[in-house]
Amino acid sequence: MLQEPKQVNMKLAKMLLLLSLISPIVVSLCDAEALRLHATHADAGRGLSKRELLHRMASRSKARSARLLSGRAVGARVGPGVYTDGVPDTEYLVHMAIGTPPQPVQLVLDTGSDLTWTQCWPCMACFRQALPLFDPSRSLTFAMQPCYLPTCRDLPWSSCGEQSWGDRICVYSYSYADKSITTGHLDSDTFTFASADGAAGGVSVPDLTFGCGIFNSGVFMSNETGIAGFARGALSLPSQLKADNFSYCFTAITGSEPSPVFLGVPANLYSNATHGDRGVVQSTALIRYRSVQLKAYYISLKGITVGTRRLPIPESMFALKEDGTGGAIIDSGTGMTMLPEAVYNLLCDAFVAQTRLSVHKPTSSSVSQLCFSVPPGVKPDVPALVLHFEGASLDLPRENYMFEIEEAGGSVTCLAINPGEDLSVIGNFQQQNLHVLYDLANNMLSFIPAQCNKL
Ligand SMILES: *[C@@H]1O[C@H](CO)[C@@H](O)[C@H](O)[C@H]1NC(C)=O
Ligand SMILES: *[C@@H]1O[C@H](CO)[C@@H](O)[C@H](O)[C@H]1NC(C)=O
Ligand SMILES: *[C@@H]1O[C@H](CO)[C@@H](O)[C@H](O)[C@H]1NC(C)=O
Repeated sequence: MLQEPKQVNMKLAKMLLLLSLISPIVVSLCDAEALRLHATHADAGRGLSKRELLHRMASRSKARSARLLSGRAVGARVGPGVYTDGVPDTEYLVHMAIGTPPQPVQLVLDTGSDLTWTQCWPCMACFRQALPLFDPSRSLTFAMQPCYLPTCRDLPWSSCGEQSWGDRICVYSYSYADKSITTGHLDSDTFTFASADGAAGGVSVPDLTFGCGIFNSGVFMSNETGIAGFARGALSLPSQLKADNFSYCFTAITGSEPSPVFLGVPANLYSNATHGDRGVVQSTALIRYRSVQLKAYYISLKGITVGTRRLPIPESMFALKEDGTGGAIIDSGTGMTMLPEAVYNLLCDAFVAQTRLSVHKPTSSSVSQLCFSVPPGVKPDVPALVLHFEGASLDLPRENYMFEIEEAGGSVTCLAINPGEDLSVIGNFQQQNLHVLYDLANNMLSFIPAQCNKL
């Protein structure tokens, strides 16, 4: 079932030979300014209409929210998810390469899990992927991890697999809240992070630990080859790279430009922005709750203002309860912000009261959001929307909460927010053209308005 033993001496000889020929820039993050990756939206380049985009985003958000809630119960990783109504349940794929020479992989950007893995050859059960399977035997820098290492023992499930030459390698199984699962061997290899402009070269980091998934089941249909873990555990990419911080900046979801993701964010990206209460940079604490099982980035949401009016929401509505329910998280894997139903209803009432447009009754069930009819040629005013966090106020640009859909004889404008359960989730529609910095060293989350395609 596992890899055949390799001829180690041959491999070493080949490697020494090749090392003299190819010279990728190998760095550890301490020497480097930052690693830059690029992410693509799962729906980019599919030629979808805006109505379809909105519908797919809403379906994905609901499915993800269901998984977040079930993950909370069992303390599981949140993971990739179910295929809802024909819609892949993934938001962003990050592109990188593994091995020497580099083999490309495209992984789901997941702030809800730790392990980074890709499907590997030879495979016992793999889902279809567009790229060739990662082939360990074609990489000169590939190594299997022995099972006595802490990285292996710290996995939720791992054991020692016997190799025919006697090494005891790390065999893992990693499951997600939707019951998707990857099983394989834990390995290490050089990762190459390509530059965002797609230029040749890139930066290589040796000896990163990842899972070689040879038995992967569940529903993986977003064109991914695996998952990139960005949560807080020791195996996540930010942890392994000893990055004090990471960030992403999502370009407009209706466009197709790639979004930059940084590991180790250069401080000078912010040198022009001003900090403070009224400044451009808005920062709030990332909260680590001991009682919470869910692997997610919690923040403290305090309230919401629509137009000129702060909604009469008791703060307890957003607070984390003693039993681990409630609370608010920021998530790379949720499309639209989800709010507890009672909050959502207040929000809709406030929009209806402060918008001089008639509510649009959908003719099909494909859009279930609150929508308004817009007469032809009108660019209607809509009330401002501000999310209040502890220490930060996020005054959202209109494009980050209203979604315009053209229709024959006019258009509709819809509020891109969904009713959910007691857990509030800040989704990535609301994060467009914001540089979102996860400062892990100081447990702070910052939002900085940016033109993400220009970063
Ligand atoms: C799937 O990934 C491949 C390889 O990166 C790419 O060429 C293709 O356009 C992607 N398909 C979709 C629908 O995103
Ligand atoms: C991010 O972390 C790196 C070290 O990993 C540090 O040099 C850099 O200043 C940090 N950036 C910000 C914006 O805090
Ligand atoms: C900061 O401002 C300077 C001068 O206006 C400009 O040249 C530079 O590109 C800006 N840096 C960033 C990261 O926006």
